[in-house]
Amino acid sequence: MGSFPYPRNGILKIDYEFILLFKKQGSPPKPLKENKERSAMTKEEWNTYFSGHWNFAGVKQNGHLAMFPEELPARLIKMFAFYGDTVLDPFLGSGTTSLAARNVGRNSVGYEINEEYIPKINEKLNVYQKDLSGNQYIFLTDNVKSDVNEEIDKLPYIFRDPHKFDKKIDPKKLKFGSKIDKNSKEREEYYSVKEIINSELLRLNNDSVIRLIGVKEKKVNNMEAIQYLMDQLKGQKVFLKFDNEKYDEDNNLLCYIYLKNKTFINAHLQVISK
Ligand SMILES: C[S@@+](CC[C@H](N)C(=O)[O-])C[C@H]1O[C@@H](n2cnc3c(N)ncnc32)[C@H](O)[C@@H]1O
Repeated sequence: MGSFPYPRNGILKIDYEFILLFKKQGSPPKPLKENKERSAMTKEEWNTYFSGHWNFAGVKQNGHLAMFPEELPARLIKMFAFYGDTVLDPFLGSGTTSLAARNVGRNSVGYEINEEYIPKINEKLNVYQKDLSGNQYIFLTDNVKSDVNEEIDKLPYIFRDPHKFDKKIDPKKLKFGSKIDKNSKEREEYYSVKEIINSELLRLNNDSVIRLIGVKEKKVNNMEAIQYLMDQLKGQKVFLKFDNEKYDEDNNLLCYIYLKNKTFINAHLQVISK
């Protein structure tokens, strides 16, 4: 509650979650007529379920850390599965989805990676007890120890990333172009240089590595170039400008770098390296 009951440090209660709905393309199997009829929702259910906001209490976290209330899967199952269909929960936890499925007349399959939850699932679903129709849940334990990479290679939809998006600099760390301040004047974003890797590559205070556009390391005057960078950049604030091409083949950001007093470092280095 933070500073309750006084301002200014009260803590906002995030007491809602989003439910994301995804639909599979294609033609689903047709339900039996009688199953379709048994799946009809009342008008009240329909209006409640298909409204944009749901309001019900959470559930006491007893025996599992992240259980949802039965009402949550029960509603979704009634909205999207016919009576007699089979519902899959890939993250079964304590088994709430299966419980809800059973209580609204649907079958279910669940995966749970953590064996420790078996007693909790057992308790919630009373798995070893046959129901009135003689049906019973079963646990199947997967002991296959396969090579994950080999299995991934067999998949038909492997994600390839020719642009190496995951290696690109976090766009929140670095913004391209300049910001406009309230007086409509251009304002630069300032950084400092944490490390001079060589005369072409610098590490900034936000840990991104930048490559200086137009600068080529040459053995003969390399020391002079590095000395120049040390003298100029030590303890200084710098700002960056970018070209159309933003990254080199190693995903280093391609930059022009300037001191706060507008000294253009790349240009001076080019002169030294000639
Ligand atoms: C948020 S809990 C689900 C809780 C569940 N809705 C309930 O009400 O009990 C997510 C569960 O997914 C399981 N899990 C995580 N990764 C998994 C995986 N790769 N395969 C199967 N289960 C996994 C976790 O062990 C955890 O029990």
